[in-house]
Amino acid sequence: MIKLMIGNQKGGVGKTTTAITIARCLADRGFRTLLVDSDPQGSIAVTLKLRPSNYLADFILNQLRLQDCVTEVAGNLNVLCGNRETTAMEQRIFTMYGREHVFQNAFRQYEEEYDAIVVDVAPSISLLQACSMVFCENVLIPVSMDTLSVSGAGATIFSAKTISDSVRSPIRPVALLPTIVNRRFGLTDVVMKMVDQLGQAYSIPVLPSIRTDQMIGKAARAHRMLVDVDPKAKSLEDYDQATTQLLETLGVAIANRPTAETEQAHGAATISA
Ligand SMILES: Nc1ncnc2c1ncn2[C@@H]1O[C@H](COP(=O)(O)OP(=O)(O)OP(=O)(O)O)[C@@H](O)[C@H]1O
Ligand SMILES: [Mg+2]
Repeated sequence: MIKLMIGNQKGGVGKTTTAITIARCLADRGFRTLLVDSDPQGSIAVTLKLRPSNYLADFILNQLRLQDCVTEVAGNLNVLCGNRETTAMEQRIFTMYGREHVFQNAFRQYEEEYDAIVVDVAPSISLLQACSMVFCENVLIPVSMDTLSVSGAGATIFSAKTISDSVRSPIRPVALLPTIVNRRFGLTDVVMKMVDQLGQAYSIPVLPSIRTDQMIGKAARAHRMLVDVDPKAKSLEDYDQATTQLLETLGVAIANRPTAETEQAHGAATISA
């Protein structure tokens, strides 16, 4: 079971793009994957144009069944969307005992239904970020090519340590992922060096970079996933490589994309389950 929070306290670094694309890469490799949006901006629902009947707040506060709150967006891939209610939910969680463990407790009974859970978070230090970190234990940090993004990554590493110490839960910044990388910009080399230094300072591996790619914007405008718009997109190739290295870092046996046979077998297993 892989649980992964995608976080950087700086906004606009590619967290949501990374969460959606890595979740899809995992799903396409045969991992039964759940993508969770804990950002009150509800960016995943907006990007994929989803209008579910129930959202994260309904699952957490009203204790609806997970299967009644998720939307299947591709084979092996379900999404639990966020919306503005997420903010009210966070305020309610504030008053709860053991508040940092709320996600962990809510999802516990459903973990066997998934091989991977990917959680997208808002670009801020928030209680929901703490809940997501405690639940996921692993944090993947996208870093875009500006110095503030590196500072945001540093702040996320610091939060992981602080939260881990205060609630005595293991939280590991599992990798840094350079995003929106355009080698033609002078600043890129400078920022990449800073990312490498940050990785070395905290013994966090740096994954292969994600190049700037206009297909990402095109897919978002079409409210579709990258692979469905352009399966040969250069950024998808990069995300695929990053996913392979991420799985190696996490120590997960690397499954290849399911063949028709394994898909059939998986379908049969799901039906018989
Ligand atoms: N590799 C890329 N190439 C080109 N554009 C990209 C790439 N990755 C992300 N983008 C674009 O950058 C913008 C910010 O991306 P995204 O929404 O994923 O960031 P975020 O960190 O989730 O933002 P927020 O902090 O607001 O949640 C979006 O317009 C997205 O389409
Ligand atoms: Mg986002």
